Amino acid sequence: MKNNMIRGLALLLTIFIISCSGKGGENKEMSHSENVKLEQYMVTGSKLYTIHCSSCHQSEGQGLAKLFPPLSGSDYLDNNLEAVPCIIKNGLSGEITVNGVVYNQPMPAIPQLTNLEIAEITTYIYNSWGRNHGIVEVKDVEKMLENCKK
Ligand code: HEC
Repeated sequence: MKNNMIRGLALLLTIFIISCSGKGGENKEMSHSENVKLEQYMVTGSKLYTIHCSSCHQSEGQGLAKLFPPLSGSDYLDNNLEAVPCIIKNGLSGEITVNGVVYNQPMPAIPQLTNLEIAEITTYIYNSWGRNHGIVEVKDVEKMLENCKK
């Protein structure tokens, strides 16, 4: 009788712990102010993308033939977040492979962009076309820019 009660209590405790750890996951969701900030970055990032990127990479990031690689669905983008602020600021040249296709056309530098604008554009392309990375903060962009390959 007593043993059964202990077993029952242990079971209840286990259920309690499991349901609590489930709640813990929910708490990781973004706070309201983070959501507002992400939305602001997305709105400005989208405008900046249209001005500075879409003439080559196209409005839906689909790229253009063998001239301009895609950003939407790009494995290069997925694997190289650290390099993207550098590419935006300093341009890129030499052969690169995106989704198995080789590209080799220089992308011009856009040196006039501020670090905030680069963070907004980076946030935009990492949260569009099926991506859901969350905000890319200015302080992270600053660190990435310090580490650009010369
Ligand atoms: C004048 C055309 C042009 C513009 C404007 C341009 N790009 Fe590019 N971009 C290219 C080309 C060409 C490459 C491939 C470079 C190479 O072959 O080395 C490239 C490569 C890239 C890559 C790496 C490959 C990939 O597809 O994942 C990223 C990321 C990228 N561009 C982002 C941007 C963003 C963001 C902007 C706007 C801020 C931008 N580009 C503006 C032409 C352009």
